[in-house]
Amino acid sequence: MLTLVQSISEIIKKAFTDAGYDEKFGVVTVSNRPDLCEFQCNGALMAAKQYHKAPIAIAGEVAEKIENGFFEKIDVAAPGFINLKIGAEALLGHVKGMFEDEKFGFEAQGNNRKVIIDYGGANVAKPLHVGHLRPAIIGESVKRILTFDGYDAIGDVHLGDWGLQIGLIITELKRRQPDLPYYDDSFSGEYPKEAPFTISDLEEIYPYASKYSKTDDAYREEAKHATKMLQDGHRGYRAIWQHILDVSINDLKKNYDNLNVHFELWKKESDANVYIPEIIDDFKAKGLARIDEGALVVDVKEDTDQKEMPPCILQKSDGAFLYASTDVATIYERKKLFDPYWIIYVVDKRQELHFDQVFRTCKKGGIVDDSTKLTFLGNGTMNGPDGKPFKTRDGDVLRLEYLINSIVDKVSERMADSDIPESEKRSICDMVGLAAIKYGDLSNQATKDYVFDIDRFTSFDGNTGPYILYTLVRIKSLLSKLSVKDDFDSVSALKCSENITDSEKKLWLAVAGFHEAIRKAADEIAPHKICTYIYEISDLFNSFYHDNRIVTQENVDIKNRWIALLKIVLEVVEKCVDMLGIKVPDRM
Ligand code: ARG
Repeated sequence: MLTLVQSISEIIKKAFTDAGYDEKFGVVTVSNRPDLCEFQCNGALMAAKQYHKAPIAIAGEVAEKIENGFFEKIDVAAPGFINLKIGAEALLGHVKGMFEDEKFGFEAQGNNRKVIIDYGGANVAKPLHVGHLRPAIIGESVKRILTFDGYDAIGDVHLGDWGLQIGLIITELKRRQPDLPYYDDSFSGEYPKEAPFTISDLEEIYPYASKYSKTDDAYREEAKHATKMLQDGHRGYRAIWQHILDVSINDLKKNYDNLNVHFELWKKESDANVYIPEIIDDFKAKGLARIDEGALVVDVKEDTDQKEMPPCILQKSDGAFLYASTDVATIYERKKLFDPYWIIYVVDKRQELHFDQVFRTCKKGGIVDDSTKLTFLGNGTMNGPDGKPFKTRDGDVLRLEYLINSIVDKVSERMADSDIPESEKRSICDMVGLAAIKYGDLSNQATKDYVFDIDRFTSFDGNTGPYILYTLVRIKSLLSKLSVKDDFDSVSALKCSENITDSEKKLWLAVAGFHEAIRKAADEIAPHKICTYIYEISDLFNSFYHDNRIVTQENVDIKNRWIALLKIVLEVVEKCVDMLGIKVPDRM
């Protein structure tokens, strides 16, 4: 289905043609002067140059030709604008089409093409911290938006399981429990099935080892060596690593689940490891890699580069592989297993250079062809009130759990006097708290940093998650007060276009803007555009609700039209909120 603006453009284009001008000038946009009109066409100003004629004259001729019946008002304004107000019947006609379509008239463009979204990035053995929150929230939303746009979208958690953190744990565990069989090279029996640690042990061991390694060089060297031995296949270390995976992944799944973030794939950095040697051989054979101070590197600098672009290091001089080797190999693996049309990375924007190097290396080596889209969606940081990345009082990274609890507590405080039974309140506060965090995050452009402001995010007023949820809950409760049946016929309820008030019309227009808003969000992979849209529609709904007495309206036709309006606002905003990964309670 065409968007409303496209449908209007079609009419105005025809008028341009009928008046003897090129139809390309008939493009219409939503008005930037809502006090004057709802839509505008500035084409006459541009046509004036081509036809050497006064724009106002062209606008006047075109206005004469505009088909009757669609508009309530057509104005020509100096120096040559065509200002339009849509007629109520035409507007409701458009919305009827939305009701009849399961995607509310949205035209999906993904054509089932495969897109992999890499947005977890959690590291095993380390608790999730605030740094993982933004990629998780934004990535989940991007996946949902692209799924709605018809892509076959696959989320991959891409766990960090192959780095120094494992070597540190191996080293620390050896110090604490030297008698474990994993360290005995002569041991050839079966290792225990049970891990020698729990998740809480790990959560203590890793930070301890990490801190300690910064003060003791020998310890750090040992941890590095253990990492290399693990990667080279040391049997005992592999067994410890497997225990770490089992214990951690279980816990991470629970944590991501609580965030309503779900991955189709639980792949890990280590999964790509097997491909690295063949990739390296291929780069060498093609003459694309060279030795630089003992390391194997690929030059990726291009003449047009404005910034520093160091070569991509595939292998260190001691033979070890690095983060870049793993990411190149992961693209190789994804190509092999899924042959994706597009791969999107939602990762901290401070990793941009790394991904530039990796993407260029992959293109250069033919790991992907030019038609494969590789996109880095770098997210800004979530900062504390001091404007710096969130830290605990002792300067440690803040655990995600702590952040979530603090916001849920704040929501509970705000909901203290509600008469919802305690048993239900807990889960409602969890939902509202999570919505506060997610919306607070997603309403900012992904690439920008923002300050996590607990008071503002949890407020029930303004551009916040709780406000949006509150609006939805209010509509749900109104519909139940009006005893609207499930099989209410919204399309028939749109037959009456009489007495549409100003606030009602604005709300219908906002509903009709769904298609465009989502198109923009999908094309620009920009969840914040959905937030802007639902904030606008929620505000307009609340004005409409304030201005019109729905429950006591006596004219049945008008009342039914309003019920249809409530229903579509609810459905459209619920769909949007779902694309943000936010759940809606039944009451709050
Ligand atoms: N584990 C990494 C980190 O904590 C993020 C991984 C992002 N994804 C990737 N394919 N490199 O920084």
